[in-house]
Amino acid sequence: MATLSERADRLEHELALALEERVPIRSPIYRSGERDPRADDHEIDRAVRAGRKLLMGPDPRLPPMPDKPTLVDFFRLRFGNTQHLLQSARLARINGHEEKVILACLLHDISVTGFISSDHGYWGAQMVEPYVDEEVSWAIRAHQVLRFFPDPSVGYAYPEAYIRFFGEDFEPEPYVREAYARMKDHRYYMTGRLITLNDIYAFDADVHAELDDFVDIIGRHFRQPEEGLGLDHSPASHIWRTIMWPTRAL
Ligand SMILES: [Fe+2]
Ligand SMILES: [Fe+2]
Repeated sequence: MATLSERADRLEHELALALEERVPIRSPIYRSGERDPRADDHEIDRAVRAGRKLLMGPDPRLPPMPDKPTLVDFFRLRFGNTQHLLQSARLARINGHEEKVILACLLHDISVTGFISSDHGYWGAQMVEPYVDEEVSWAIRAHQVLRFFPDPSVGYAYPEAYIRFFGEDFEPEPYVREAYARMKDHRYYMTGRLITLNDIYAFDADVHAELDDFVDIIGRHFRQPEEGLGLDHSPASHIWRTIMWPTRAL
C-alpha cells in the first residue's frame, strides 16, 4: 500500500507529465494589462515554436466535469466563492420574493465568480439567456448598471461598500448613464432593481447559505439542456464550454 504522501507525489508527477505533453494555453485576455496585448508572444506561437503539443481538451489541473454538466456542476466544480450569490438569493427568499427573483439573485454575479469580471452583468445575462425567463436575464444584465443609481422609492441608496471599493471620486461613464436612462422605464425595471436591493454588498461571515437550498428553484426555472450545459448548441453554449475547458488552445 502506497502512503498518502507517495500517492500525492505520484499524482503530481502524472500531472506534470500531462502538462508536459499538452501545453495549456491562457487566452490573451487573461494576461492583457500584465503584458501589452500587442506584444508578439502569444502562448500558442511560443509552444508551437518549441515543438510542443497544445492542450485541446480538459485541463488536467482542474476537477473533471461530468459528461453532461448541469448548472449545479458548474457551481460546484468551476465557480469561485459562491457565498455572495447564495446569501443574496437567501435574502431574496427571506424578503418573500417570487422564485424568478430568487433565481436572478442566485445568478446575478456568476460571471464574476466563474468567467469575466468586467461587464459582468452583460456577460452573466448572456450566459443564462437561453435557459431562463427573459425577465431573469434582463434583470441580471441591468443590475450592473442599476447598482450605481439610487432609487429612494424602494429605499435603495448607492452602496457604501462602493465608496470603499472604487473611491469617493468614482463616476459611472456616460455609456452607463445612457444605459440607465434606457432601463429605468423598462417593464422589467423592478426585477433588476430587486437584484440590487438583495445584493449582499457586505458579506455576513456568520451566515452560511447552501446551494442545496436552491436546487429546487434551479430545477423549476433553469432549463437544463439534456445534452449538458455547454454541449447543447444554444447561443451561449460556447461560454459554458470555455468555463469548462478554459485553457483549450482553440
Ligand atoms: Fe454584480
Ligand atoms: Fe452582487
